[in-house]
Amino acid sequence: MAERQKLILPVVGLLILILPLVIVAFTSNDNEIKDIERSSTSHKFQEELWIKFKHFERKMESEVTKLKTKVELLESKILEQAELLKECKTCSPITETFDNDMPVDHVKNVRPLAKSILQPKTCLEALTSDPSLESGMYWIDPDGQGRGDNPIYVYCNMTSGSSSILHDSENSTAVDHCFDPGCYSRQIKYNATLRQITMLAELSNECHQSIKVDCFDAAFEFNGIAYAWWNDRNGDPRYFWSGTNNNSSAHYHSCQCGLEGSCVDKSLLCNCDSDLAVELSDNGVITDKDLLPITKLNFGRTIAPTSISTHEIGRLECSGKVVLNGMPTSCQDLWRVGYVLSGLYSIKGSSNKVETVYCDFSKLPGDEGLQAWIGYADVKSEPVYFNVGRNTSFRYSSTAMPFEQEILNVGNAFDLPSGTFVAPCNGTYFFAFASFAENSYSSFYFSLMLNNVQITSCYSSYTLYYCHIVYTLKLSSGDQVQMFLQQGSTNNAIFTGALLAEDIF
Ligand SMILES: *[C@@H]1O[C@H](CO)[C@@H](O)[C@H](O)[C@H]1NC(C)=O
Ligand SMILES: *[C@@H]1O[C@H](CO)[C@@H](O)[C@H](O)[C@H]1NC(C)=O
Ligand SMILES: *[C@@H]1O[C@H](CO)[C@@H](O)[C@H](O)[C@H]1NC(C)=O
Ligand SMILES: *[C@@H]1O[C@H](CO)[C@@H](O)[C@H](O)[C@H]1NC(C)=O
Ligand SMILES: *[C@@H]1O[C@H](CO)[C@@H](O)[C@H](O)[C@H]1NC(C)=O
Ligand SMILES: *[C@@H]1O[C@H](CO)[C@@H](O)[C@H](O)[C@H]1NC(C)=O
Ligand SMILES: *[C@@H]1O[C@H](CO)[C@@H](O)[C@H](O)[C@H]1NC(C)=O
Repeated sequence: MAERQKLILPVVGLLILILPLVIVAFTSNDNEIKDIERSSTSHKFQEELWIKFKHFERKMESEVTKLKTKVELLESKILEQAELLKECKTCSPITETFDNDMPVDHVKNVRPLAKSILQPKTCLEALTSDPSLESGMYWIDPDGQGRGDNPIYVYCNMTSGSSSILHDSENSTAVDHCFDPGCYSRQIKYNATLRQITMLAELSNECHQSIKVDCFDAAFEFNGIAYAWWNDRNGDPRYFWSGTNNNSSAHYHSCQCGLEGSCVDKSLLCNCDSDLAVELSDNGVITDKDLLPITKLNFGRTIAPTSISTHEIGRLECSGKVVLNGMPTSCQDLWRVGYVLSGLYSIKGSSNKVETVYCDFSKLPGDEGLQAWIGYADVKSEPVYFNVGRNTSFRYSSTAMPFEQEILNVGNAFDLPSGTFVAPCNGTYFFAFASFAENSYSSFYFSLMLNNVQITSCYSSYTLYYCHIVYTLKLSSGDQVQMFLQQGSTNNAIFTGALLAEDIF
């Protein structure tokens, strides 16, 4: 509002300055008119004066109109600025805390991320764009700026470039006394939505979360009954306390000591399965990034007054940049490497072909409609087609029939003197051949040969003195295709072929 006043003041000032002049001009004109009326000697002079007055009036009118337009223009500009200011406040929560008069350089030193319009998706991205950043709390937006959920406030280790998501169960917490499996349960509240956490995991090379359980006269599993488990990202129960879900069984149960074979009771997979009145503990790091984070902890069999069980969960820490295994095969892959503009993209298809898909990046991995299949992209590493002929006499022989007329030989895959087509790449090829017998009363027959093996043939008796072959073949690069005249003679043949579809991958 202060800005608006600043701009209006000069305009109002200008009007105040002009007003007396107008009044003076008007009154002086009035006096003159009266004088002239009194004398009433020159009617003509009076008319002239009237014209002058009208002229002056018009001029003033146009000036006022100009000023009005200017004011309107300034007003609309102010509104525009106000809108921008409002937008900027919602785009980055940090800007709210800034003093308007703080110099820009100063701002950079205080909160480095605030100045950049682009909010990083991960701490690693922030570190990559500014290697001088120091470890601390930062705002990141894994699901992309200006879309999805609000940015999240995470701890960035700028030595490793890892992002850690804070939660409310980092401190050691005692389990209540109760008996039934899962009778104690604790929901872990993260300072980020599950969607943002999932996207962070998607973008990261690895994620892990540590869990430490101290136990005394309490057990994870006892007599085949599972008393304790944690719930994964999808809410499903998990019974392993370290590593990955390295077992097809949903009930896979193990602890770090079980993986190492170092449990107190060697016959068990966890120290805390012992159910002994001894202070024991199981420390593990869960590394299955598709299951993390731990969303809930459940314990039981702690009914005895002497039973003690405490849990301590580390932050969910994700680091590294997800590495694509070769070329992108989906919109999800494209999203991971940073594509954000919706559009048609080529991907490595499942059928050795390049495929075209539409990626709607207003959606996120896991959302319906992120990818729509459009079709195969007709990609060939080089065009291959030929059309050759011969019009001179050729008698049957044990070699391929040569050709002498080259009508087309794009890709140079056909060698005319040897009559040999060599497939330049893996793919599907189409061939057509037609020939007339030289002597209309003799029979003859041709074979289509693939690597010296007959694939098909055409035969002509003396009543039908021509033969033809149409054939589609899947070839590997280097395969040879030829026409053999097995019987009779010809002086008229044409052979054509083309690469229909190439196996690109
Ligand atoms: C940050 O990462 C480095 C390297 O991995 C590690 O040595 C250090 O302990 C980490 N700092 C914190 C506070 O976690
Ligand atoms: C965890 O413990 C520390 C001190 O040991 C304390 O400052 C902090 O508030 C505790 N956090 C929670 C969530 O209770
Ligand atoms: C949790 O996140 C909110 C914003 O989502 C932030 O204002 C708050 O400071 C964060 N709390 C902690 C403990 O980091
Ligand atoms: C997973 O199982 C394989 C054998 O099935 C083993 O080689 C590997 O070490 C296991 N990994 C973990 C983390 O347990
Ligand atoms: C998978 O886990 C189940 C239950 O813990 C166990 O019985 C089985 O031996 C495990 N299989 C492998 C291959 O580790
Ligand atoms: C064969 O065709 C060529 C043109 O490609 C022509 O010049 C030649 O005369 C023909 N020969 C015969 C025997 O028809
Ligand atoms: C062509 O296909 C064969 C199998 O038929 C495969 O072994 C070879 O690697 C492929 N070559 C190319 C260049 O894709």
